[in-house]
Amino acid sequence: MTNSSFRAVYETAGTYDKLLLQHFYGGTEDIDLVADWLTEHHAAPRAALNVVEFGCGTGRITDAIAPYARNLVLADYSETMVAAVAQKFPDAQTICADTSDAVTSLLAADRAATFDLVTAFWSLSYPIGEFFEELSSAGVQPRGDQAVAEEHARKFVLDLVGLTAPGGHLLAMLFDAESPEQQLVTQAWETVAPFPGGGRAYTRHILIDALHEAENRGDGTLTHTRLGGVAWAPTRESAREWFFGVHFKHHPQLLDDLELERDVEEFIDRYEMPEGGVALPSGVHLIDFHAVAHPRASLPDGLAS
Ligand SMILES: C[S@@+](CC[C@H](N)C(=O)[O-])C[C@H]1O[C@@H](n2cnc3c(N)ncnc32)[C@H](O)[C@@H]1O
Repeated sequence: MTNSSFRAVYETAGTYDKLLLQHFYGGTEDIDLVADWLTEHHAAPRAALNVVEFGCGTGRITDAIAPYARNLVLADYSETMVAAVAQKFPDAQTICADTSDAVTSLLAADRAATFDLVTAFWSLSYPIGEFFEELSSAGVQPRGDQAVAEEHARKFVLDLVGLTAPGGHLLAMLFDAESPEQQLVTQAWETVAPFPGGGRAYTRHILIDALHEAENRGDGTLTHTRLGGVAWAPTRESAREWFFGVHFKHHPQLLDDLELERDVEEFIDRYEMPEGGVALPSGVHLIDFHAVAHPRASLPDGLAS
């Protein structure tokens, strides 16, 4: 049976892998999107790059990037996740810390501008959100001055850029807060506490705005793609667990909410396939910041010299 304590999804061994649904975009799984991106930018795997992954979880997507890494740094705030990746990637340096603290400690350790690849898959919205509010089983507490929070969140994004070596990339995947699935998730969390700016897209807006700022000051170029796809639940029960275990993190208030339970059942009804399984519409934002001397480096070869 799945552990149903608050945040067990990230803090109890085996729970994340058990509850996670596969995500497909145009028939391609998210991990293969990353593998395709790597092939496009770096051709065949060659252990040549300095790579850091924040919010690495159990190393699901690390599998795709590890063959390209000469040096691999894996960071996650959860001891359980860090223990899992340390076993799976014994040569990697691991950091057990909140992403913003991990970034600060890497900068303090002279790692600025040293990573060819700075990555974070499905995990950046947490550290950005944590500048604004603290999530605990007791509820969601806003943290002081929200304008100051925004300033710190933007600085955090610019620090991520600061880790990226000249010519390197910051590559992130973020959930799409506007998808019907995520709107239901937002509606549920808003019964616990409202989000800054109303809704959960604000973390992505902060990320994108700060990367625009970095582009405007000449630090690189931003490519941002949104892909529509599906989260595939092989059974109704796995779709239910996806909502309550992963999205709602077994939060006691949400577990006890009968109206929410009904809404989730209706949602699952809507997307249940006649042949079995539930195809939940999903979206992913693929964000790639290329650290080049913009705009000069954006010219074709003949024009730049
Ligand atoms: C949705 S999972 C994604 C894991 C992995 N990247 C993947 O794609 O399978 C989010 C991960 O972020 C971690 N996480 C959540 N909040 C964090 C924070 N503030 N700092 C660092 N890691 C965090 C969780 O422990 C979890 O491993």
